[in-house]
Amino acid sequence: MDPVHFKFVMVWLLLNYLILSHITKAHRVDVNTTLSAESNITTEKELVANLLSEYGDTSVRPVKDHLQPVEVFFRMLLFELITLDETHQMVTVRSNMRLQWTDEYLQWDPDENGGIYNITLKTNQVWRPDVVLDEDLDRDFISIPEADTFVIVQYTGAMDWLFPAITTSACKMNIQYFPFDTQQCVLTFYPWTLDESKMRFFAKNDEDALQARYVRNGIWSMTDFKPENFSFRYICCPYPNDHIRYTLTFDREYGFFLSNIIVPAIFLTSLMLVGFWLHPDSGEKVAFTVTNLLALILFQQLVSDSMPPIGEPRSIIVTCFFMLVVVSGCSVFFSVLVLRMYHHDATSIPPRLAIKMLMPWISKGKNKNYMRKFYSSSLPNITDIVFMNGKTEVNKSSSKADDDQEMDDRNVYLWKQTALAFDSFCGTILSLCMLGTLLYALISFLMGI
Ligand SMILES: *[C@@H]1O[C@H](CO)[C@@H](O)[C@H](O)[C@H]1NC(C)=O
Ligand SMILES: *[C@@H]1O[C@H](CO)[C@@H](O)[C@H](O)[C@H]1NC(C)=O
Ligand SMILES: *[C@@H]1O[C@H](CO)[C@@H](O)[C@H](O)[C@H]1NC(C)=O
Ligand SMILES: *[C@@H]1O[C@H](CO)[C@@H](O)[C@H](O)[C@H]1NC(C)=O
Ligand SMILES: *[C@@H]1O[C@H](CO)[C@@H](O)[C@H](O)[C@H]1NC(C)=O
Ligand SMILES: *[C@@H]1O[C@H](CO)[C@@H](O)[C@H](O)[C@H]1NC(C)=O
Repeated sequence: MDPVHFKFVMVWLLLNYLILSHITKAHRVDVNTTLSAESNITTEKELVANLLSEYGDTSVRPVKDHLQPVEVFFRMLLFELITLDETHQMVTVRSNMRLQWTDEYLQWDPDENGGIYNITLKTNQVWRPDVVLDEDLDRDFISIPEADTFVIVQYTGAMDWLFPAITTSACKMNIQYFPFDTQQCVLTFYPWTLDESKMRFFAKNDEDALQARYVRNGIWSMTDFKPENFSFRYICCPYPNDHIRYTLTFDREYGFFLSNIIVPAIFLTSLMLVGFWLHPDSGEKVAFTVTNLLALILFQQLVSDSMPPIGEPRSIIVTCFFMLVVVSGCSVFFSVLVLRMYHHDATSIPPRLAIKMLMPWISKGKNKNYMRKFYSSSLPNITDIVFMNGKTEVNKSSSKADDDQEMDDRNVYLWKQTALAFDSFCGTILSLCMLGTLLYALISFLMGI
């Protein structure tokens, strides 16, 4: 080996040594800082990393004694009623949920951990109760991504999970007393899998749980919203499950319906009654009653739009509108009949039976006497009875042509009298029907209140 070669090898070895020693040194420094960090935590990040590294599987209940149930407290604050859908029988509410429990694997001493008393964790990093809403029509609200909010963890292991939720749930409506009705919706929350031996589930009853945060809705005012603990055993399972039932009670603000449907309908009804006073000569009788009928049908549609298709029990107001529409339809029918009689040709006289039945409705005075006299004689005797219409006074000494004219006039007069009598007869009957309907509504509503 020549000296040049030797030198070169030496230099190479020296270099190698220097590099290696430097690396080891650096490595040792690294180990030193990590170790000190582990033993002396100062930041929240370090604390969380430390806690989670020991946490393990998030599907295991956070109790060290596996025979103990984990106690979960729940509260729901109702913020807003978004919709209460009568036709589909469902209710959508926006609320603030709060779940609280204790995780025995997330406890630390704040004095030894940089004075940190609480941290926040993502819900998927820790165990969380699998609470579901029984009446939910949408989806299981616990698993919605929006609910993936932070959990506040205190050094004692107390978990506090607050999240907003918009839930759509089934709600059986009772529209019998619409629009003076009160609706009750029940929201039942319970743990999906864990029974009483694994998890207790209670409603909170403190100040926080009972604060009023409801935003007034235009149509519904909330009168009651209270939780209730109860437990229920399903046949599948040996232990009962804890449930929390919230009963939501809403009163309808009837002012809108009163001024937009009820009062106009009563007004229309009275107009219909007035319609029978219209003299057939005015020529407006049928037009008037038909307009009334159409307006009533319009209101009926407005009401039935906010009703479930199968009312059970039947809504009073729907029954009322049905009866009013029937009465109104009858009034159109009868108006046509009255006009037909009123303008009957003079070839015949009204049937005796009809006159007999309508006698109480024939206007009092001369007309009544005349009609009575006319129909009480077995054969009409024109010579005996002076035609009372006032225009023509007929004498038995009249000519034959005059006799015919007089007979026509008499027949026309008889038909007109019969038509008027029939009109007032129908008016009386239909008015009674309408009053009966209104009375029925009034009594039903009063009995319900
Ligand atoms: C860490 O390094 C310091 C010097 O930087 C030293 O005093 C201390 O003893 C080392 N600790 C450990 C555990 O190696
Ligand atoms: C590290 O821990 C020791 C006790 O173990 C403590 O005296 C010291 O103040 C801690 N350092 C910091 C920065 O918290
Ligand atoms: C979190 O801890 C701080 C003190 O570090 C305390 O002031 C605060 O109230 C705690 N927050 C909760 C939600 O407990
Ligand atoms: C439900 O039960 C818990 C625990 O017994 C109790 O603290 C809470 O007040 C109860 N809630 C209601 C609404 O009764
Ligand atoms: C008709 O009137 C005449 C004269 O008043 C009377 O003689 C006759 O009996 C009357 N006929 C009937 C059917 O009443
Ligand atoms: C009816 O006839 C009588 C006589 O028979 C006569 O005196 C009277 O004026 C007549 N009346 C009319 C309205 O023509």
